[in-house]
Amino acid sequence: MSEVKTGKVMILDHPLIQHKISILRNKDTGVKEFRELVGEIATLTAYEATRHLSVEETTIETPICEAKVKVLSGKKLALVPILRAGLGMVDGILSLIPAAKVGHIGLYRDHETLKPVKYYCKLPSDIHEREVFVLDPMLATGGSAVAAIQFIKDEGAKKITLMNTIAAPEGIAAVQAAHPDVDIYCAALDECLNENGYIVPGLGDAGDRIFGTK
Ligand code: PRP
Ligand code: URA
Repeated sequence: MSEVKTGKVMILDHPLIQHKISILRNKDTGVKEFRELVGEIATLTAYEATRHLSVEETTIETPICEAKVKVLSGKKLALVPILRAGLGMVDGILSLIPAAKVGHIGLYRDHETLKPVKYYCKLPSDIHEREVFVLDPMLATGGSAVAAIQFIKDEGAKKITLMNTIAAPEGIAAVQAAHPDVDIYCAALDECLNENGYIVPGLGDAGDRIFGTK
């Protein structure tokens, strides 16, 4: 019997992240603060999710002497937020990796079936040569993430990492089953989904809270 290898799942338990998540979860947190926190948590999550990037040695001149230093090497990077809520993570991650290209995948969950419906997809033309980070604050049933990752694989990308703010166990299991090669980084792992497919305890509808549409 051959062993099935699944990607790693990293739940970030850093105190700063836990504190920021506690404010996100609060129903009284307003749009401005919510949006800022989603961005800050994305920055902190990206710091961990990029730890594996390769570096190479080069030589530069400091004002004092010649020095051997390390610079990023290997594949260039791309960010792909799942619209809408994934947009809230983009700027926070670009503050760390400003040269990354950004693609967009528009999906919404049908309220009855909870299945993702695609309405937009625009990816960098060289995405097949890039390492890709898929961004979405919420991993609930996993349907949206599974579909988005498949669109990106269909364009030839080989190394894909999923970044979420809050994940449900059901979503992690779905991504691992469909895409065992994908690593998942999330800032919190919650208990379960409710009967409407919302993460419990969660933070409500991430898109509505980021964009103030409710
Ligand atoms: C939310 C969220 C994810 C999806 C997660 O988007 O941002 O994309 O639901 O649910 P799933 O794991 O069960 O697929 P939503 O459909 O509410 O769209 P929006 O971001 O445009 O509000
Ligand atoms: N989408 C959200 O925005 N929140 C959830 O809890 C589940 C899906």
